[in-house]
Amino acid sequence: MDKSLRRPVIAGNWKMNNTPEQTKALINAMKPLVADADCDVVLCVPFIDLYAAMEAAAGSNIKIGAENCHWAEKGAFTGEVSADMLKAAGVPYVIIGHSERRQYFGETDVTVRNRVRAALNAGLKVILCVGEVLAERKLGITEQIVCAQTEIALAGVSEEELKNVIIAYEPVWAIGTGETATPEQANEVCAVIRALIARLYNKDAADRFVVQYGGSMNDGNAAELLAQYDVDGGLIGGASLVAEKFAKIVEAASK
Ligand code: PGA
Repeated sequence: MDKSLRRPVIAGNWKMNNTPEQTKALINAMKPLVADADCDVVLCVPFIDLYAAMEAAAGSNIKIGAENCHWAEKGAFTGEVSADMLKAAGVPYVIIGHSERRQYFGETDVTVRNRVRAALNAGLKVILCVGEVLAERKLGITEQIVCAQTEIALAGVSEEELKNVIIAYEPVWAIGTGETATPEQANEVCAVIRALIARLYNKDAADRFVVQYGGSMNDGNAAELLAQYDVDGGLIGGASLVAEKFAKIVEAASK
């Protein structure tokens, strides 16, 4: 298996941060810093910032994503945004199943699966988030949890559609806590996900499948994490809000 079959993806997850004006300023600051990236660069931003982000990123190598989408095409779902709406707005990427959605907004494996289905139907690229909470890691069931989340989310996804999916392995205990998984821990679970992809699809699909690590990845620890064989990029929260830090992670992925 050859790591070079996979182009790394560094994606920022801004969460609930930045106004449209701040969005433009931050992307304008990032653009020259990441212009030479030898990896894909994505910024996932709040819905309200999508247009400002796409305008600021136009003509650059930065691609824009949303942080969630609903599974229905349209209808009486106050406060939600559909995958078709994102597609129509010109948004190429969407994060689905982030642990904060699972923890605070009642997201389940089944709703995650439904959102993945809608996003793929609409022609979006999906960053699917999976990961165990601390109690699950302590119980020694990380592998089972991550595999179950992945298998349910991908139920009914064809091999062709899988080309529009990447997975972000994000141990919940490492998100926003400053506590990063060790490179070995990150690699171990990313490898488990790749092995599952091989079982669900085939080895070729698995060899080409991008598995990111996320959880307190920053400019100081990115190089070591990204050097791991099965880690093909990162989903970056806090450090994606600072142009220089994000650019350093992109640089580390480009080596
Ligand atoms: P963090 O967030 O980098 O701030 O830990 C990662 C994420 O939630 O995607």
